[in-house]
Amino acid sequence: MNTSTLNSQELIALEDKYGAHNYHPLPVVLAKGEGVYVWDVEGKKYFDFLSAYSAVNQGHCHPRIINALSEQAKQLTLTSRAFYNDMLGKYEKFITDYFKYDKILPINTGVEAVETALKLCRKWAYTVKKIEANKAKIIFASQNFHGRTLAVISASVDPDSTKGFGPYMPGIEIIPYNDLAKLEEALADKNVAGFVVEPIQGEAGVVVPDENYLRDAYALCKKNNALFIADEVQTGIARTGRLLATCGNCSCKGNCENTPEVRPDILILGKALSGGVFPVSAVLADDEIMMTIKPGEHGSTFGGNPLACAVAIEALKVVTDERLAENAEKLGKLFRERMQNLINKSNLVTLVRGKGLLNAIVINDSPESKTAWNICVAMRDNGLLAKPTHGNIIRFAPPLVMTEEELHQCCDIIEKTIIEFKA
Ligand SMILES: Cc1ncc(COP(=O)(O)O)c(C=O)c1O
Repeated sequence: MNTSTLNSQELIALEDKYGAHNYHPLPVVLAKGEGVYVWDVEGKKYFDFLSAYSAVNQGHCHPRIINALSEQAKQLTLTSRAFYNDMLGKYEKFITDYFKYDKILPINTGVEAVETALKLCRKWAYTVKKIEANKAKIIFASQNFHGRTLAVISASVDPDSTKGFGPYMPGIEIIPYNDLAKLEEALADKNVAGFVVEPIQGEAGVVVPDENYLRDAYALCKKNNALFIADEVQTGIARTGRLLATCGNCSCKGNCENTPEVRPDILILGKALSGGVFPVSAVLADDEIMMTIKPGEHGSTFGGNPLACAVAIEALKVVTDERLAENAEKLGKLFRERMQNLINKSNLVTLVRGKGLLNAIVINDSPESKTAWNICVAMRDNGLLAKPTHGNIIRFAPPLVMTEEELHQCCDIIEKTIIEFKA
């Protein structure tokens, strides 16, 4: 079979036959991306309104990031950490200055960064907090999503993530999200080492906690000598209208001159850290925590590779130079206004929620219904790509390089689709 001239249907059939069925993609086969746009194999152009789950914040194939990638690719791509390389130290200085932590542990995917944070938290608990060996507990919030490894799904309450994969990792307690009283209760246990939380729960359907939740949760952790660990894999890097969602309403617009609302003890980043070019993730912490891990105790062949370093430096510079946090904040407000107008006109949408350009609408049907999926298929036909998360909720997360005019065009497509939609 000549696979170079296949159409969308044939390419979908190939994936179906030769790939594991661990995803259920919207039927569209993409072949090209630039900025806020993607094109399918037949050449049809779409607005990308998902950004690879917030990994492509800087837009598809950003010329500066691609240039950094290709220049570095000609020099040196991988040494492993058996040797030093001439990019890692520069990157480590750059990113620790950027996010204001003593140290970074560089790794690849989001879930690996979460695993790294969990190991760091346990190591800190035994060496600094002096919890008795093998007794450390880590608290998680219900409805969380932190990835797919066995340790991480052990903290999940989603049967799709957990069913059929037991036994699970011990040392985990799950409490309701956005519930400070339950957190306080859980933290009373002296064996609690830390609390892992998403500042906004993305996969759960863009669930935004109360205004004071993160600040007060952080204070409770401090009071009880437990680490506050923020998983900003999806919310970080300007997505929510601030450099980090834990910045709260800090007014520094991403230049980090002021005091953020919460400064996590451990900060977990991934996705847009590479502008969606390839997996680059990071765990940031100060010395008291980071220095508890010694040589040989954790690592990854690809973690901190020169290519990743070059790409991540440029990806972060683009965020600052193009003022992406400010743009996300401004366009996010407009987006929610437009969706609120739509809610007033149509009874198919009941709610819009989110922060910056991480938003979701709730469709007026049961979570088991196919309505949200069918609306996404209809939006695809009208030139915009988005996907349901958890049944009747559609997440909207376009690249942050979008202009106001483009955002209005996207809102027009969403509005037209919803108004014309027939179940
Ligand atoms: C909050 C959060 N943490 C961790 C992950 C896992 O990242 P990855 O898929 O790169 O392993 C995700 C992925 O969606 C996420 O949203």
